[in-house]
Amino acid sequence: MRPKEIKSGVYWVGAIDWDRRLFDALVPLPDGTSYNSYLIKGSEKIALIDTVDPTMEQVLINHLDQLGIEHIDYVVAHHAEQDHAGAIPQVLAKYPQAKVVTTPRCKGMLVDLLMISQEKFITVNDRESLSLGDKTLEFIYTPWVHWPETMSTYLKEEKILFSCDFFGSHLATTDLYATDEGQVYEAAKRYYAEIMMPYRPNIQKNLEKIEDYAIDIIAHAHGPMYDRPEFILKSYHSWVFDAPRNIVVLPYVSMHGSTHEMVKYLVGALAEKGVTVKQFNLSVTDIGKLAIALVDAATIVIGTPTVLAGAHPMVVSAVFLANALRPKLRFASIIGSYGWGGRTVEQLTSMLSNLKIELLEPVFVKGFPKAVDLRALDNLATTIAQKHKEHNFI
Ligand code: FEO
Repeated sequence: MRPKEIKSGVYWVGAIDWDRRLFDALVPLPDGTSYNSYLIKGSEKIALIDTVDPTMEQVLINHLDQLGIEHIDYVVAHHAEQDHAGAIPQVLAKYPQAKVVTTPRCKGMLVDLLMISQEKFITVNDRESLSLGDKTLEFIYTPWVHWPETMSTYLKEEKILFSCDFFGSHLATTDLYATDEGQVYEAAKRYYAEIMMPYRPNIQKNLEKIEDYAIDIIAHAHGPMYDRPEFILKSYHSWVFDAPRNIVVLPYVSMHGSTHEMVKYLVGALAEKGVTVKQFNLSVTDIGKLAIALVDAATIVIGTPTVLAGAHPMVVSAVFLANALRPKLRFASIIGSYGWGGRTVEQLTSMLSNLKIELLEPVFVKGFPKAVDLRALDNLATTIAQKHKEHNFI
């Protein structure tokens, strides 16, 4: 890959990571990712917008060499996480006159994480501008997407918003812009679900803030850019502002078939009542798919057997994640089985404390589900369908 000119004097100089399959030792990357770095050549000054993951710093350096860049004045650091900031020390070593332009909070993090000297920084305020000569950068604080120090940069003359993680998608592609919108929608929704959803109130404020700007291109830091920004802006508005939908998410584990039998029965009963169900066997599922489903769901029903007096560890992990991601869920219930005892329902209920949910009567049975237990599942399905209807979830 060579650098790509986006507009006159504005270049993509990032790196595509086709083979990466895990982020933060947690997040699956089924389609790889990219670390988008951009170079802006003004008539007087040159700025680099973010860098790349340190594992690919040589790709960035090669791109700068291919463009014949002998001098950089500013390295704009939107975010201190390593996949964007990790190559700053290498860039500063090659261009020792460059200053790192960032928020005061990001400066502190970069000093802590990368041990960059204090004198290397220029800190900027919200909405402050920096002239490159014939090009002007305006810095817009967009905190909590997804760390507290994050900001974006607006290139006024070209109407380009550089937004770092905000609007990103973990997707390795040679396309500069989002062309296959179905594929990009899925990847961007996965990214939102895993990274941004816990900070939904902050995302709402940041979306409202950037409404003040005319944006022709969103140049974010992962995946293809948007030259039709309304596609991703509309998607984000829906994920962030819309009411949940008539959807039940049902993550479960079954060890000997009892819980699976209950899951099958409940899924059938809900489907008959017009409720969409997204069922996930946690022993094989991609947790990113579960996170995507949680973006729009109104209800979660957790299915688990009892192991060592509590929920199955894979269920515990998934419930921890659902609670931490803070989706728009309104209702929850628990189904499953036990052999001789345990405190599974109490354990799982206590793990949902972040969510503003109403707990619907759990159906937790001894051994294999009997006729009376199936009737209880019918009642649960009826209750869920009624609740969704009362709230006009469609
Ligand atoms: Fe892409 Fe929060 O780093």
